[in-house]
Amino acid sequence: MGQARIVVVGTGYVGLTTGACLAGLGHRVTCVDVDEAKVARLAAGQVDILEPGLEELVSRGLSAGRLSFVVGARRAAAVADAVFLCVPTPMGVGGAADLRAVEAVVAEIGDVLPSRCALITKSTVPVGTAGRIRDLLGRDDVPVVANPEFLREGTAVADFMSPDRIVVGSDDRSAAEWVAGLYRDLAAPNVITDAASAEMVKYAANCFLAMKLSYVNAIAELCERLGADILAVTEGMGYDRRIGRSFLKPGPGWGGSCLPKDTHALVQVADAAGFDFTLLSAAIVENIAQRDRIVAKIAGAVGGLAGARIGVLGLAFKAGTSDVRDSPALSVASMLAAHGAEVIAYDPAVGGGFPGMNVVDDPYQVAKGADGIVVLTEWDEFRKLDWTYLAELMHGEAVIDTRNLLDPQAVLDAGLSWLGLGRPRRT
Ligand code: UGA
Repeated sequence: MGQARIVVVGTGYVGLTTGACLAGLGHRVTCVDVDEAKVARLAAGQVDILEPGLEELVSRGLSAGRLSFVVGARRAAAVADAVFLCVPTPMGVGGAADLRAVEAVVAEIGDVLPSRCALITKSTVPVGTAGRIRDLLGRDDVPVVANPEFLREGTAVADFMSPDRIVVGSDDRSAAEWVAGLYRDLAAPNVITDAASAEMVKYAANCFLAMKLSYVNAIAELCERLGADILAVTEGMGYDRRIGRSFLKPGPGWGGSCLPKDTHALVQVADAAGFDFTLLSAAIVENIAQRDRIVAKIAGAVGGLAGARIGVLGLAFKAGTSDVRDSPALSVASMLAAHGAEVIAYDPAVGGGFPGMNVVDDPYQVAKGADGIVVLTEWDEFRKLDWTYLAELMHGEAVIDTRNLLDPQAVLDAGLSWLGLGRPRRT
């Protein structure tokens, strides 16, 4: 295979990363979006999401002539070797994935695709979508391929370039092998399988990660009640290679645009298949309960929320991103406000505009007159704050660190109290 002519439909974080990285691997890539203003910005090399390394890759692709951005997919699709579908698949009615965007693209380009052009799903799609697309398309000469992404927001370029594995599935084996070949310069094991299994890998992996986190959050709760320290416990668990050390940090719950959507979708799909997936449903329930427990913990630490002034550090669903979709941090902050607290929040990447809270652009401002400060997102810069100065600005002394991010001693030395998650309280 020489350079392939690739079309990527959708320039969200998955599509743009996929397009820019495939261009980085030497392919000729046309990225398509319906948003004209966004296409114009991207064509000028401007990337408006926070994704390290992405802007540089886009600029390099543009100047090498290997990457372009256009509105409308038909022209580019008519001469493509492969089309990647990277359009949103939001949570629809009852938790199932809403596939209207995928269907609209298939309707738009289905008749112009060259024979043997691979039509590839990249966004997470329900098991069986490849089959549905094949039916919609009504063409035997265009193979439909599932090639799920495993990109994390904030490290998407690094995840693309150093993947743990590449999963490609199609009922047309030679098409699956051809698609896997697009990544041949990346050193990663290939899993080549049928379309439904490839689609399932993505759900099974994301839902497993969500369950792992719900489990660790529950164990942290138990550690607190029984006087154990979650840091030692997860360290001791993590050395077991069957468990692994990553994804074991307790926090205010898992959020973002993927795990909540995918867990609900799999429960729904299981339900439709006549299987009551109670294990996964319990992980979702546990994740909601975690937020409630965090709010109760904050209320306890400041002596009641009504009328209390709470400084919030972090609103993004995790560090390294400006994304607040399904953010546990934002939801905890909103719950504090709903319980009558005055909420002053700061996040290095998130601006204001949320009801019931005042978002400021300096972390020290959240401390002014505050009864307590709560860390909700694990931004590194919070570790480096001057706690002596924060203590001077505060009215109370409670610091609730829901990510176990801070150095408790630095907080104590400033005359404040430190309350982590699953760890002994320090006063
Ligand atoms: C997740 C998966 O990790 C990716 O592999 C997948 O490709 C992606 O979804 C997707 O489906 O597109 P992402 O949503 O970017 O990636 O976020 P993660 O880094 O997985 O974090 C998810 C949530 O778990 C965040 O709220 C984070 O704060 C929380 N988390 C993560 C913890 O509370 N503790 C941890 O130890 C790790």
